[in-house]
Order: sequence, then structure tokens, then C-alpha cells
Amino acid sequence: MDGNGRWAQQRGLARSFGHRKGVEMVRQTVRTAGEMGIGCLTLFAFSSENWRRPPEEVTDLMGLLKLFIRRDLAELHRENVRVHVVGSRKNLAPDIKGLLDEAETRTRENTGLNLVIAFNYGGRDEIARAVREIAEDVAAGRVAADEVDDALLGARLDTAGLPDPDLIIRTSGEQRLSNFLLWQAAYAELVFVPCLWPDFDRAAFEGALAEFDRRDRRFGAVDDADLAVGSG
Ligand code: IPE
Ligand code: MG
Repeated sequence: MDGNGRWAQQRGLARSFGHRKGVEMVRQTVRTAGEMGIGCLTLFAFSSENWRRPPEEVTDLMGLLKLFIRRDLAELHRENVRVHVVGSRKNLAPDIKGLLDEAETRTRENTGLNLVIAFNYGGRDEIARAVREIAEDVAAGRVAADEVDDALLGARLDTAGLPDPDLIIRTSGEQRLSNFLLWQAAYAELVFVPCLWPDFDRAAFEGALAEFDRRDRRFGAVDDADLAVGSG
């Protein structure tokens, strides 16, 4: 979700207005994803690098997360949404940590859309934390070094048990991952859309999904049709 600040600036408003509008678009997108039957939707809400923003903006973003969970958790639960949170919980304010824990615990049994909130999340940090844990297990003799493979590492990431993303959409025209799901994105299709996050309406969402449908996914293999041509 990128472009809240620019959306506000284009209207001569403070960045905080863009973030507010961005939360509305989060609500709408979660609803749309549920209606479309998408299994898992991950939203990059706050990165481990976003702490570098001015303190007022950081406070504002923390406040919006709290507001979102307090206001929307009951409805998400009613809609059978299961909430997961990825990112480091260490050093978060106790009220934020409490709300994130509550969102996960309360919706644990739900079987609808998996909504993953990436908060205080950085892909490198996530991998480093998993490696540290594995190193401790190896040092203690609980895991043999030659047992460490991509499945074992994947199971130690915050996203353990969740599917790798098929599609990653970034709004606002920037074309980079910015530390998002680095490990999990290995075979994800990347779609970069020019619209700013507060303008990412249902039509924009459907446009990105249509682009995804046009992609040819081979996962390192060769298309059956191309094989047939080669052997024929
Ligand atoms: C995305 O919008 C919101 C967050 C990641 C918190 P930005 O705040 O990055 O908006 P721009 O990039 O400055 O326009
Ligand atoms: Mg940005």
C-alpha cells in the first residue's frame, strides 16, 4: 500500500489525511478480497524501516492501526476472517502488542479469508530472526546442520503455514519490493499499478488480477506446449 502521502499532498492536505483515506481503502479491499474468494490477503501496513519517519507520523500510523483493530475486529470476526500478524512484536508498545495478539486469538478458528497484517515487518529481519532460532537449535543439538533446508527455514518464518503469495501488487508506481516478503516472493508475479493507494478501488484491484491472469507462470520449468513443440 503506497502513495497515501502523495494522495494528500496532491490535494494540499497533510499526509495524515492520506493515511485516513488509506484505511478506508483497506476496509474496502478486505471486503472485496473476501467477495472474490481470495484465500489470503497480506497488507504491508508498517515496515521495520517506517520508524525513520517523523515521530508525529509514526504516532499517527500507530493510532490508525489501533483504531482499525478496535473498530473493525468484531466485523472481521463476523465475516469469518482469520487475522494473522507478521513482523517483529519485540519493542512494540504494550497496547499495540495486546491488540495484535487479540486480533489473532479471537479469529483463530475462522475459516474465511486469511488477512495477514505485516506490521513492524521487514523481510530481512524476518529471515534473520528465523536463522537465529535455527542456529540456537543447531547449537543445542535439537537440529542437525544438514537438516536445514528451505522447508525448515520456511517453517520458522512469521508466515509459517501460510501460502506463498501468487501475486504482489504495489500501488503508486514505485517498482520495488522494499523488504516485503523477500523469501516468500520467490515465484510471485509482481504487478505495479500507477494509482495511489487511496485510489485503489475495486476496478483497480480487478485490473491487477486481470494482469495476473495474463502471466505465464512456469516456476522454473518449461510449458508443456513448448515441450511438445521441441519433441515433435
Ligand atoms: C503508504 O503511503 C502508507 C504506509 C506504508 C504507512 P506512504 O506514506 O508511503 O505515501 P507516500 O509514498 O509518501 O506517497
Ligand atoms: Mg511511500
